[in-house]
Formats: sequence, structure tokens, C-alpha cells
Amino acid sequence: MSIAESYDLAERAPLVPPTPPRAPEGMGALGRLAAIRHNAIASWGQRAYEDDVVKGRFFNHASYILNMPDDIRHVLVDNYENYTRTAAGIRVLRPILGQGLLLAEGRAWKHQRRTLAPAFTPRAVGTLVPHMISATEDIVAEFERSVGAPVDLREAMQRLALEIAGRTMFSFGMGQHGQQLRDFVIEYGMKLASPRFLDLLLPLGWPSPQDISRAFFRRRWTKFVGELIAARRAAGKSDGAPPRDLFDLMLAARDPETSEAFSDDQLGDQVATMILAGHETTATALFWALYMLALDPETQNDVADEARAAGSTESLDKLPFTRAVLDETLRLYPPAFLIARAAAGPDTVAGEPIRKHDVILIAPWLLHRHEKLWDNPNAFKPARFLPGAPPPDRFVYLPFGLGPRVCIGAHFALVEATLALSRIVGAFRIELIDREPVMPIGVVTTQPDRSPAFRLTRR
Ligand code: HEM
Repeated sequence: MSIAESYDLAERAPLVPPTPPRAPEGMGALGRLAAIRHNAIASWGQRAYEDDVVKGRFFNHASYILNMPDDIRHVLVDNYENYTRTAAGIRVLRPILGQGLLLAEGRAWKHQRRTLAPAFTPRAVGTLVPHMISATEDIVAEFERSVGAPVDLREAMQRLALEIAGRTMFSFGMGQHGQQLRDFVIEYGMKLASPRFLDLLLPLGWPSPQDISRAFFRRRWTKFVGELIAARRAAGKSDGAPPRDLFDLMLAARDPETSEAFSDDQLGDQVATMILAGHETTATALFWALYMLALDPETQNDVADEARAAGSTESLDKLPFTRAVLDETLRLYPPAFLIARAAAGPDTVAGEPIRKHDVILIAPWLLHRHEKLWDNPNAFKPARFLPGAPPPDRFVYLPFGLGPRVCIGAHFALVEATLALSRIVGAFRIELIDREPVMPIGVVTTQPDRSPAFRLTRR
């Protein structure tokens, strides 16, 4: 009998990982604004975890947090063209992602999405698995050398996910580029990623003081991405050879209707988008999975048993329990904790009249822990996602978003993270040395508030 078949939740009291306190309901606009800048998760009160819709104000526009599946479907699927990214979101991400797929809108987005889709099919992702495995083997070898010593798994998972992003994109290890890339990401995250007051207030056409610093950053960043692409071009590809990485797939990509290829600038923005959108989110998911498994040694042993039974595998078919652990991690700690949209024109949502520029918030963090939508919402119960369990409503569980703008890298991320988690937990017993609770901070992604020390021992 496999681990997935024999797993009997009834015998165990589930882990309830540390849950952040709720914001006081009477928090004023300024308090909420400060909370949003530093940690949006801490700005939500208990009502946001219980009500169907939470109405608020965002400067002179109305804002709505949607918690009902039908309303979410309306905004993300049925009338998605009426909802764009918010000005604050564009401001913060534009310097790093440019006009790449995540920020593109309208016709430009359709063209890019159609062109890129073939590079992310399960078949195409399958060709990238050897890169994922080689990067994971390198980190396992590194852990072998630090057995028994304190390890910063958050930093290690960021390096692993970046290495996977680099190798799947370019077929070469990130080496010295990796450190430079992380330095860019850290510099940006610390200095420019949190929206300031004027970022939230000014229309997009008016540069805020931070926008000026962001423009300087962008100049250095695009030069760096250009150097990465030049290095990859220099490494070449023999004519007629099958594509070996995402870069080859993106070079070969043509719009199915117009046969257009990406220009060099567009290619640079796509490369930056895929590396950035892909690595920070996946690293975050792996960190939280390892954190919860360290707090829940029995479940950790089950993951290790499944890894042993599966042997060295390139497919997820033999890892249903590990995959369920990951699905449950993405429920409790969705790396994209918030999906924000601005209305482009009038509409009606949740019975409320929506005006142009009103803000719609769909928060996987809230939906995944909503009191009405889940049984024991704050408990870590991977069995919810085992084959045979009733699948959750897809408008209630949406770690990768939904509708036409659903994450293009969802399958890629699940393959990468499941294989890495199984390999690492299969090889090492993971313990927390420092047992102070780790709390989530919601700024762009769901980051831990600190990096606890772990200890790894060989299994
Ligand atoms: C656990 C890992 C990941 C999570 C939780 C995640 C989550 C998301 C979410 C929620 C969205 C939708 C945002 C919205 O509707 O506003 C999204 C979009 C996107 N993701 Fe991911 N993502 C992950 C991994 C990846 C990977 C590995 C890649 C690329 C290799 C990637 C590339 C993108 C891109 C390009 C978009 C924009 C798609 C579009 O607008 O058409 N993501 N992601």
C-alpha cells in the first residue's frame, strides 16, 4: 500500500502552524495604509475571514474584497477584460518585469500569451526536468557537506529556485550571475518594492519620487538581463537541434496568427518576467513546506517514505503524497497572497455598483483560510488534497490565480517543487534549531518574517 493510500488523518491531531494575529476592526485609513506597506496580511481583520464581501475605501475609490466563488468567477473569468492590474501593482513591478507577460494588457498580452503558451505545456516542461534535477542534486550535495550544522533553508531554497530558473532558461548554471541577480532582487525588494503613499495616490502617468529611483534601477537591470542573453546567444544552438531550454523555446515562439517572433527588448522582458515570477514564488512555497514538515515530523517521515518507495523519479505519478503536502502548503501560505484588479469601466459585482478605478481584491490568503469555506482552515492537513478526496472549489482554492490570466508557470512550479521537496526530505531529516514562531509578511509575495536556523541529518 502506498503512503497516499495508507495515510489516515483520523489518527493524528493536525499541526496548526503559527497564525498571524488579526488586525483590529476599527483600524483607520492611515493605519491600514501603513499596514499594507509593511505587511498586507496584517491589515486584515477577522471579518475578512468570515464575510462574503468586505467593502472599504482606497483613497477616493471603493474597494471590495471578494470571498464568494461566483463573484470571483465574474471578475477573473466572465468579465476579465474589464479588470486590469492596479496602478500601484504596475508601478512596483514594471521596473523589473517591463512589458513582459505579467504586466502586459489587451492585445499585447494576448499576443504574448499565445506565443508563450507552447513553452509551458506539460510536454515542454518535461524537457526541462533534467535541469531541475541537476540543480536539486547540487543543493543536496551542498547539504551533505553541512550535515549537523545550522542551515538557512530560506536562503538555500531561493538559491535553488534561482538556479532552476537559470538552467531551465539558459541551460547554464547561474554561477556568478546568480549572486548578481539575487543582489538585484534583494536591493529592489528592500528599497523599491513597497508602495509608498504617493505610489498609491498618483495616477500612473505622474512619476512618484520612488518611480525616479525605480527608473535608475531599471536601467542597470535591463543591462544585466541583456548580458545574460548575450552569454546565452554566445553559447549558441546547433541548427535543427531540438530546443534544450526555455530560451530556445521563446526564440522559436511565433504568434500563431501573425507568425511574429519576439523583438530583442520583448525577449529581455520575458526572460526577466519568467526568472522573477518563477523563482521567488517557488522558493517561498518550498520554504513554507519545509518549515511545516519540520514542525510535523510524522508527516515529514511520510514524505521521506514515499521518496524511498519512488526511487529516483522524474515524474510526479509516484509522489501523490508529496504533491498533496505541496498543495496544502500553497493553501496555507499562498506565495501570491493577493490578486488585485482595477475596474476599467462600470460593472456590478456582489450586487454592488462598480465604477471605473474601483479596486477589487481577491486574496488567496483569505480565501484559503476562510471560516465558511474550509473545515479547520488553519490546520495543516495534506489529506485534503490526496487523490480520492473531494477536490476544493476552484474559485476558493487558487494559488495560481484563475481564468485567462492564470499562472502560465503553474505546472512548471508544481513539477519543480514536488521533485525538489521529495529529494531533499528523502535524503535528510529536517529539524528546526530555533523554534520561535515564523510569521508571514505579505509584500509582493508571502515571505517569512525571519530565516530560522534548521539542522539536517542524513536519513
Ligand atoms: C509556486 C509558484 C508560483 C505561484 C504561487 C504563482 C502564482 C501566480 C499567480 C497567482 C498568478 C496570477 C496573477 C494575477 O492574476 O494577477 C501568476 C501569473 C503568472 N505567473 Fe506564476 N506562480 C508561480 C510560479 C511561476 C513560474 C515557475 C513561472 C514561470 C516560469 C510563473 C510565471 C507567471 C507569469 C508569466 C504570470 C502572468 C500570466 C499572465 O498574466 O498571463 N509563475 N502566477
